[in-house]
Amino acid sequence: MAENKLSIASILKKMATRKNPDDTLAGAKEGGLEKTLGVWDLIILGVGAIIGSGIFAIVGTAAAAEGTGAGPALMVSMVIAAIACIFSALCYSEFSTMIPVAGGAYTYTFATLGECMAWLIGWVLMLEYAIGFIAVACAWTNHFMQFMKGFSSVLPAWICNPPQWLISDYRNAVHYYQGQGIEPASVIPHIAGIPISLNLPAIVMIVLMTVILVKGTKDSAKMAGIMVFVKLGVIALFVLAGAFYVRPENWTPFAPNGFEGVFMGAFIIFFAYIGFDALATAAEECKNPQKDLPIGIIGSLLITTIVYVLVALVLTGLQPTSGVVIPEGLLKAPMAYAMSAVGQNWVAGLISVGSIAGLTSVMLVLQMAATRVLFAMSRDNFLPKVFQKTHKKFNTPHVLTITVGALGIIGTLFLDLDIAASLCNFGTFTSFIIVCVAILILRKIDPDRERPFKVPFCPWFPLLGIICCGGLMIYSMVVAKGETAVLSSIMFIAWVIVGMIIYATYGYRKNRETEIEEV
Ligand code: ALA
Repeated sequence: MAENKLSIASILKKMATRKNPDDTLAGAKEGGLEKTLGVWDLIILGVGAIIGSGIFAIVGTAAAAEGTGAGPALMVSMVIAAIACIFSALCYSEFSTMIPVAGGAYTYTFATLGECMAWLIGWVLMLEYAIGFIAVACAWTNHFMQFMKGFSSVLPAWICNPPQWLISDYRNAVHYYQGQGIEPASVIPHIAGIPISLNLPAIVMIVLMTVILVKGTKDSAKMAGIMVFVKLGVIALFVLAGAFYVRPENWTPFAPNGFEGVFMGAFIIFFAYIGFDALATAAEECKNPQKDLPIGIIGSLLITTIVYVLVALVLTGLQPTSGVVIPEGLLKAPMAYAMSAVGQNWVAGLISVGSIAGLTSVMLVLQMAATRVLFAMSRDNFLPKVFQKTHKKFNTPHVLTITVGALGIIGTLFLDLDIAASLCNFGTFTSFIIVCVAILILRKIDPDRERPFKVPFCPWFPLLGIICCGGLMIYSMVVAKGETAVLSSIMFIAWVIVGMIIYATYGYRKNRETEIEEV
């Protein structure tokens, strides 16, 4: 017995143990979540998850040809990034209709690549969902403070312009004060020798999101619906009002940085598409996942692509993106800046409201997705049993939701926004690639399984998904320079190593204990 336990071959075999999709489905039926989501809820959740800081902020950097951006060719970058996503979206659709349970990519990996890879992908998905959640929470503060500045003539200064130590983490507060020539220790308060610097607006938002998610998925979808309506409304306003001020001469030269600029633009704006996969994590809560999930996933991706291309068209027509020094406003809040620049301040104000709504809905869905992946992991004994608990009244995984919220708050105390966003990208690339690989494997090992939705042109589409996402990931690691790129690459590798250590010391052992119990 001991000999058997120690044999490397047996360890490797156990690590590759696959979970039969039928067992996963049976497990979900027993302790399942409430089925409340219809096709429109899914499309709203999808658009709610996708449209956020990418289009309201990052689009400026992707366009800025004075950096390495695409210039007016941003619309081409948008389409390239969307194409990279669509292959993975098709794979997600096939899986989510075949195994419609909570957990998304984690669950699919367990069914195809086995226990160890499943743990790893669950761990990496936390980069996408939980760290992405923190990144968007930090971005929310920036947009909110920008919005509050508009009220500085009517509201007290402590509300519109609070001290930096109340709106950012300690590291950024120190940078800010040093930049102003102020000694940080003289302004940042200390309690028992510990400096106090917190991102209060982000923390308040995380608490609010946690309460909403504990109350129920249906309520969350309703709230996301209102915010999706608001953000789509202001984007439509931007496109329609902005169209009158477009100067076609701003569209030439079309691609000032050539192919490299277009590709770099696609890499930067990829962040704006992250989120459609979060829908798959809510599969268990769908009324009719087989039919509705592919429509929800692909539909929300297509709607977003059309919206993004229109924004890119108008934005680059309103503002020159090459041959001039790109103003700070165009990089931080491009749509609002562009409308202010043509004298439409009221449109700019409304866009600020829309961006706050946009970021709020992204936060909501990312936190929900993180919770659902962890829920699936706890069902597989990778996490303590307490996390499997669902709320008696609301039937939501409240222990996990509160835990993710608490970890999010801790994250805002330490994490830098840029690094968090970059780590989020790495997590997403990895999960997209693994899902494409898993589709190919499951088609081979389980060809007869019922597939209500099938990826067309298999194996070519999944292979293209692997090439597109892998290419973007390697490109970001090799080409991108600077502290953020280097730090995030190192942190990503460290994250994977820590994940493997936790699996070896906890997850692997825990699963073997269950086997013994079952015997
Ligand atoms: N796609 C999401 C955003 O742009 C992550 O905020």
